[in-house]
Amino acid sequence: MTLEEAVFVRHSVRRFRSEPLAKEQVEELQARIRMLNENFALHMQLVLNDDMAFSSGMAHYGSFQNVKNYIAVAGQRNTAGCEATLDERVGYATAEMVLLAQMLGLNTCVVGLTFKKTSMVEIDDGEKLELVVAIGYGETSGVQHSMKPATRVAPGYGSAPDWFKRGIDFVMLAPSALNQFKAKFTIDENGRVVAKHRFGFFTKIDLGIFKYFFELGSGREIFRKSMQTLRSSDGV
Ligand SMILES: Cc1cc2nc3c(=O)[nH]c(=O)nc-3n(C[C@H](O)[C@H](O)[C@H](O)COP(=O)(O)O)c2cc1C
Repeated sequence: MTLEEAVFVRHSVRRFRSEPLAKEQVEELQARIRMLNENFALHMQLVLNDDMAFSSGMAHYGSFQNVKNYIAVAGQRNTAGCEATLDERVGYATAEMVLLAQMLGLNTCVVGLTFKKTSMVEIDDGEKLELVVAIGYGETSGVQHSMKPATRVAPGYGSAPDWFKRGIDFVMLAPSALNQFKAKFTIDENGRVVAKHRFGFFTKIDLGIFKYFFELGSGREIFRKSMQTLRSSDGV
């Protein structure tokens, strides 16, 4: 499966089978986490066999079942040395991880609320745990979320160039908190893509996710450099 194909088959899955992740899957996830942590100044961790994080009533209410493995996505609150905020970098890296997981034959759900931080997650001084990504073999492959019109995030969609439209088409397939898609993509007078979040829950993290999906769909690397630490984007 290609990265593009993963965009179309990825859906949130909240109920998992007991089967543990394969060694090769764990290794691939770990390798990508190491790379993204370094490039985007994050502290993502793959946590395996944690019985507690999704054991509360809250998680059951959120219809999570048998979540034992997840990626904890954390980072320093202080974003000095990075152009993009922590929220956006978290979203951008999360997008890459959910698509990688899909390519490896796994299912995921981004979870901002209904989990409990346990001692298996390491949070250093000054860091914030922003979300976790539940990961494993889904009981099902999930279902397509109800689609919003592209004009919700791109008012000028109808008259936009094809590459921009394809970027937005991918954005509309992305995971979004409460399926809300509160963002706005425009092309400014210099032909540059401008992407902003609107007001709401997790909309800054959503924006980072959308930027990743937009780049993939449009085939243009517009935001990636702003996500990187100044060190890594300088090639140091
Ligand atoms: C930042 C963020 C936070 C989320 N938090 C939760 C959550 O706490 N509980 C939950 O069940 N789903 C959560 N989701 C999953 C969304 O509900 C889901 O992505 C959305 O409904 C679209 O469905 P899809 O992922 O199947 O395309 C979250 C998604 C994002 C991007």
